[in-house]
Amino acid sequence: MTNQAASLGQKITNRTAVVGIIGLGYVGLPLMATFHRAGFPVIGFDVDPRKIDALNRGENYLKHLGADLVTAMKTGAKFDATADMGRLGEADAIISCVPTPLGHHREPDLSFIEKCSDDIARTLRKDQLIILESSTYPRTTRDVMLPRLEKGGLKCGTDFYCAYSPEREDPGRKDFSTQTIPKLVGGIDPQSGELAVALYSAAIAKVIPVPSAEVAEAAKLLENIYRAVNIALVNEMKMVLDAMGIDIWQVVDAAKTKPFGFQAFYPGPGLGGHCIPIDPFYLTWKAREVNMPTRFIELAGEINVQMPDFVVSKVQLALNDRSKAVKNSRILVVGLAYKPDIDDVRESPSFELIEKLEHLGAHVDYHDPLVPQTFKMRHHDLHMKSVGWSKEIVASYDCVLIATNHSTYDWQMIADNAKLIVDTRNALSKVTGKRDHIVKA
Ligand SMILES: NC(=O)c1ccc[n+]([C@@H]2O[C@H](COP(=O)([O-])OP(=O)(O)OC[C@H]3O[C@@H](n4cnc5c(N)ncnc54)[C@H](O)[C@@H]3O)[C@@H](O)[C@H]2O)c1
Repeated sequence: MTNQAASLGQKITNRTAVVGIIGLGYVGLPLMATFHRAGFPVIGFDVDPRKIDALNRGENYLKHLGADLVTAMKTGAKFDATADMGRLGEADAIISCVPTPLGHHREPDLSFIEKCSDDIARTLRKDQLIILESSTYPRTTRDVMLPRLEKGGLKCGTDFYCAYSPEREDPGRKDFSTQTIPKLVGGIDPQSGELAVALYSAAIAKVIPVPSAEVAEAAKLLENIYRAVNIALVNEMKMVLDAMGIDIWQVVDAAKTKPFGFQAFYPGPGLGGHCIPIDPFYLTWKAREVNMPTRFIELAGEINVQMPDFVVSKVQLALNDRSKAVKNSRILVVGLAYKPDIDDVRESPSFELIEKLEHLGAHVDYHDPLVPQTFKMRHHDLHMKSVGWSKEIVASYDCVLIATNHSTYDWQMIADNAKLIVDTRNALSKVTGKRDHIVKA
C-alpha cells in the first residue's frame, strides 16, 4: 500500500474519514444513515434544494425509512447536507447514488453520472476515494467516470482511488437493510478495490470483494435481468393458465413446495420501480457495441409491457359480464405505488392502467394511503389526488381494481363492499364470504 493509501486506510479504520454521499434518494439517504450509524462524519449532497432543506430541518422525506432517521443523524457524528458541490473536496470518500434512467429511445441516460463526475473532478484532491453505486452497464466507471475524474491530471490508483459497488436496496423490505444486504465491491485497480472494501466493511455486515469494477457492474445487471425474465415467465404463464381456467397463484404456491431448483416469482399488473423495468436495457444497449443480441431481455420486456393491456381487458370483460361498458363506468384503482408499503411511484403500472382506462372512457379515481397526490413524472402527469376511504366510497364504484397490495388495506372490507373487484395481486386470497364478484387478472 502506498503512503497515501495507508493514510486514507487509517482514517477509515479510525472512522475519521468524512463520507460524502451524492444523490440523497431511495439509495443515498439510507446509505448516509448507515455510515453515520457506524460513526463516520457524513455530508450529503443533492441538487434538489427541497431535500437539503428537509434534512437540515431534521425531516425525513422517505416515509418507509422511519420518522426518526434524520433526527438520529443530527446527533452523534458530524452530519451535514448541502447543494453546494464545491464542498465535495471536504469528503475523504465520495459515494455517488445519482439516477440512471432511460432516455426516450430506451437508451441509457448517463447525464447524471457525467454531471456528478464533473462536479467531483472540480475539487478532486490526492487521497480521495470515489465510488459509483448507480446501476449501469459494465465499464461505465472506467470509461465514463474515470476519464472525467482524471482530466485535471491526477491518476487513479496512485493519486486517488475509484471503485464500483452496486446498490441492492429493496425499499420497504423488513428482513434486510442497507447495513445487512451483502455488498459487492470491485475496484478500478487493486489498491482502489482494497480501500473501498475497507470503507464498506466499517459500516456494512458483509462485503464481498470481486475482481474488478466490471464484474460488480455486470453482477448487478445479472441480478435485475434474472428478476425481469422470471417475472415475464410467470406473467406469460398467468395469461396461458387464465385461458385454461387455472389460477397462477395456486400453481406458484404448489411449485414452490419443491425444496430446490425453483424460486417463486409472482405475476402482477406490469413492472415498476427504478430498477427492473430499466436496468436490463442498459445491457441491451451496450451489447450492440459487441454485436451481441439480448433476446431474453427483449422478450421479457415485450411480455412485461403487455401486462397493463391484459389487466384492462380483464376489467372490460368483467364489466361486460355485468352488462356494463368501460365507457362511463366509475373505476377505483387501489394502490399507486409500484410495490407494497412504499411511496415510490416511478414506472408504476398503475399510471398506465389509469391512462388506458380513461382512454376507453372510464371515470377513474385512485386511492393510496402513501401517495396523497400525483406529481409530474417523465411519462405521466395525471393531476390526481387520492380519494377518501370508507365502505361507502368503495361501494360507490362500478369496479375496484387492485394494483398494489399495501399491507394496511383491510381486504375483507373491500371484498364485503365493492360491487366488482379485479385483483392483480392475489390480495383477496384470504377473504371469506362470497367470491363471485372477484376476478383475478
Ligand atoms: N430505488 C431503488 O430501489 C434502487 C435499488 C438499487 C439500485 N438503485 C440505483 O441507484 C441509483 C439511484 O436510485 P434512487 O432510487 O436512489 O434514485 P432517486 O431518484 O431516489 O435519488 C437520486 C437523487 O439524486 C439527486 N441527483 C440527481 N443528480 C444529481 C447530481 N448531479 N448531484 C447531486 N444529486 C443529484 C436527485 O435529486 C435525487 O435526490 C440508480 O442508479 C438506481 O438504478 C436504486
